[in-house]
Amino acid sequence: MSDTEYRQILASSDTQTILSALLDAPDTFVSGSLLAEQLGISRPAIHGKLAKLREQGFEIEAVRNKGYRLIKEPEVLHADLISYYVEKSGAPIDVLYFPVIDSTNSEAERQLSRRRATPFAIASSCQTKGRGRLGRDWHSASAENLYLSVVFEPNIPPQALQHFTLWAGIHICRALQGLVPKTPLKIKWPNDLHTNGRKFAGMLTEAKVDADSLRSIIFGIGLNVNSNPAKYPKEIQKTATSLYAVGGEELRLNQVAAKVITATQTAYNTCILGSGSENLVDAWAPLNSLSGQSVTAIMNNNEITGIACGIDESGALQLLDEGGILHSVSAGDVTLRK
Ligand code: BTN
Repeated sequence: MSDTEYRQILASSDTQTILSALLDAPDTFVSGSLLAEQLGISRPAIHGKLAKLREQGFEIEAVRNKGYRLIKEPEVLHADLISYYVEKSGAPIDVLYFPVIDSTNSEAERQLSRRRATPFAIASSCQTKGRGRLGRDWHSASAENLYLSVVFEPNIPPQALQHFTLWAGIHICRALQGLVPKTPLKIKWPNDLHTNGRKFAGMLTEAKVDADSLRSIIFGIGLNVNSNPAKYPKEIQKTATSLYAVGGEELRLNQVAAKVITATQTAYNTCILGSGSENLVDAWAPLNSLSGQSVTAIMNNNEITGIACGIDESGALQLLDEGGILHSVSAGDVTLRK
């Protein structure tokens, strides 16, 4: 992608200021001349920027002698909107939006190699080569869903990475729970988010480690937000769901994206930078979707069957087999037994 294309995708700071003014005053009119004065640009320039915002799906009312009022946000992802909501949460971050991309994790790698300052987030409405864990594909064709990567450069010893995806899952479940209050959101160890026994999100953390230092973390998440599971590929129709399907209401995608980014930053601060005092085992327990279930885990080509109990301090899943022996599963794939 050329630099010119990037510039079109990146939020312009003038547009961001206009948008913030409109969003900060949801029920009132914002004066065009005040905006022009504040930005040091002409009224026609303000008019032009508002016309661009309308083209991007914002409904903006204009009334002579009163100014402009935002009526409706676009339903698709928009970098400025995500940035606005993230900033409101107190942890601003640079957000890049790509309508279509191969993979947000791959774009994050490219941005890192071009030395983009971290942290930053990459959001997309469609991935052509979305990837999941264990070399699987991640179906990424619906603009009603969210494909997102959040990138950090900690430069600390790599041990801290061990729990990062677990903490990200915890904070993301907590952040999204308020949007679907009637349906508990849970985590299927280690990196799937489940509700009503179906997967609504998958997380993929990729990291670069150099000589004892954790150089970069690319945390990717594919989150089914407003999509209809009846339209999913046949092979996942019975096992996948969306927040809309369980909550019954369409959610505002940009606010959802902002919540996920903020929750990921909280996970980073607590787990990687060590700012939290919460215990992982305790935080995980109420969110454990496998608790008390009979499961089979595959670890290093070995199959272990047992009742899932919880995780230990290292983040390993604890399985109690029929003989009363407790097994620690530190990595691998877990399936529920029928
Ligand atoms: C899994 O469940 O296997 C993890 C899926 C992770 C998918 C997300 S979508 C955004 C980011 N970009 C990718 O290519 N993958 C992750």
